[in-house]
Amino acid sequence: MTKRILTGDRPTGPLHLGHYVGSLQNRLRLQHEYDTYILIADVQALTDNFEHPEKLHDNVLAVALDYLAVGLDPARTKFVIQSMVPELAELTIYFMNLVTVATLERNPTVKEEIKQRNFTRGVPVGFWSYPISQAADIAIFKADLVPVGDDQLPMIEQTREIVRRFNSLYGKVLVEPKAMVGEVARLPGTDGGAKMSKSLDNCVYLSDSSEALRKRVMSMFTDPTRIHPTDPGHVEGNPVFTYHDAFNPDKTEVDELKERYRQGKVGDVEVKQKLFAALDRFLTPIRERRAVYQAEPGKVREILIDGTRKGRALAQATMDDVRRAMKIAYDFAQ
Ligand code: TRP
Repeated sequence: MTKRILTGDRPTGPLHLGHYVGSLQNRLRLQHEYDTYILIADVQALTDNFEHPEKLHDNVLAVALDYLAVGLDPARTKFVIQSMVPELAELTIYFMNLVTVATLERNPTVKEEIKQRNFTRGVPVGFWSYPISQAADIAIFKADLVPVGDDQLPMIEQTREIVRRFNSLYGKVLVEPKAMVGEVARLPGTDGGAKMSKSLDNCVYLSDSSEALRKRVMSMFTDPTRIHPTDPGHVEGNPVFTYHDAFNPDKTEVDELKERYRQGKVGDVEVKQKLFAALDRFLTPIRERRAVYQAEPGKVREILIDGTRKGRALAQATMDDVRRAMKIAYDFAQ
């Protein structure tokens, strides 16, 4: 049987290069081999945006456009709007019985995210427990594989635990998924920070114009210990070279730049100009595909409706199995 992929993104803003190397690249590579579903996770995004739901609405379409622009093929990959699959809420409730408060409190990603957001009225239960609903996302699709950035690994581990517990209590209905992390697990921000993040304003977006890209790249953080182009520089941990490694297909050029950088024989400007050129070449076909779809919003809408319909049908079939296994499938017609 064809194996299945399920993954997702919160529609809180346009997707950036970090999303690309972490997960989109794997989705692109595997979409013809796997039965692929991608969740536009508006319900999860609401857990920390419930006071401003309008922020999410337009981003559902923006994220769908990003998917199509990078080359995800709507004839293969199903894009599913999470809020249009209410069965996910039901499965989340059943999963809540299978997780302890202590386990949720240990989740390192959620802990970190809580620190970043200052929830002035305390941490909402919805946000704190979103790993349970994410487990439902993955399990309802009976996914074998979940391509994600490395910050999502605790979620997949949590899902595996829930699935094992469910199957041992009620019978083998659900599938234990595996995570798949991109070759570059985490792309630093243009400011040299640990990762790209919209709130830190250190991203290169897949939808950036040439001009925006040039500005971003030319103002990138490099080696702070290097004052003059003739000083020997550090390549490791230097975000400009991390990006070259990830996006410049001309390995000879990259090796030569690194060599000269280490010897103090090339300035930051030249390294950045070459990075700009490489990234601009990478983004050009993405911009072209985006323009085609942008001219046809009706078509994007249809793609979303079609993907969501297929996703929901699959979710409904799983829930029939789940209810039967849990002995809550009442059939009064008989
Ligand atoms: N938590 C993911 C993120 O922030 C988005 C997401 C929601 C997801 N549901 C998922 C990822 C299911 C993988 C599988 O990017």
